[in-house]
Amino acid sequence: MIIIRKFQPSDFQWVIDIERKVFNEHDPYLYMQFYETYPDTFIVAKINGFIVGYIAGFLTQEGAGRIFSLAVHPSYQRRSVGSHLLKEIIHIFTQMGVFEIILEVRMDNTKAKRFYERHGFIQFGIAEKYYNDAQDACLMKLKLFPN
Ligand SMILES: CC(C)(COP(=O)(O)OP(=O)(O)OC[C@H]1O[C@@H](n2cnc3c(N)ncnc32)[C@H](O)[C@@H]1OP(=O)(O)O)[C@@H](O)C(=O)NCCC(=O)NCCS
Repeated sequence: MIIIRKFQPSDFQWVIDIERKVFNEHDPYLYMQFYETYPDTFIVAKINGFIVGYIAGFLTQEGAGRIFSLAVHPSYQRRSVGSHLLKEIIHIFTQMGVFEIILEVRMDNTKAKRFYERHGFIQFGIAEKYYNDAQDACLMKLKLFPN
């Protein structure tokens, strides 16, 4: 059974372990800072007592939702964990009255791009040399219809 809930400080090491396995590019301190600043949009997925994925987002000053990071432990990918996390943050942003969600994904990450497209996101631009290694980012967005 999968449990989707808000991040708690005791999840920190799990989240960092997943981040290292999947990206290995963020400063761990960022995630605690994220929790302190945006506790309502930092969500984790738990299966059999293990944290297996997380999604971290925030509300921009313009009132858009922004997804900062989404990752599922490699052993738990393709089991709908990512979909559960994404649906939850879409739900939370909708409740907040957000009109669109924006994210960026590495241009060569076809798997993630397809994943987001399946959830209704469309590509609307490119951010050149966005990442530290100078790779471009694909900008994607999802229009929401607030309640
Ligand atoms: C992208 C990512 C978050 C998706 O999470 P996930 O848990 O694997 O996603 P889901 O299982 O919900 O869906 C992914 C795929 O599995 C398929 N799937 C879902 N449940 C499935 C099942 N029971 N059996 C087989 N396939 C399944 C989906 O249809 C989808 O297929 P597709 O990749 O061919 O489009 C995850 O792969 C990941 O962490 N990737 C590395 C980090 C990353 O790229 N993050 C996004 C950029 S910020």
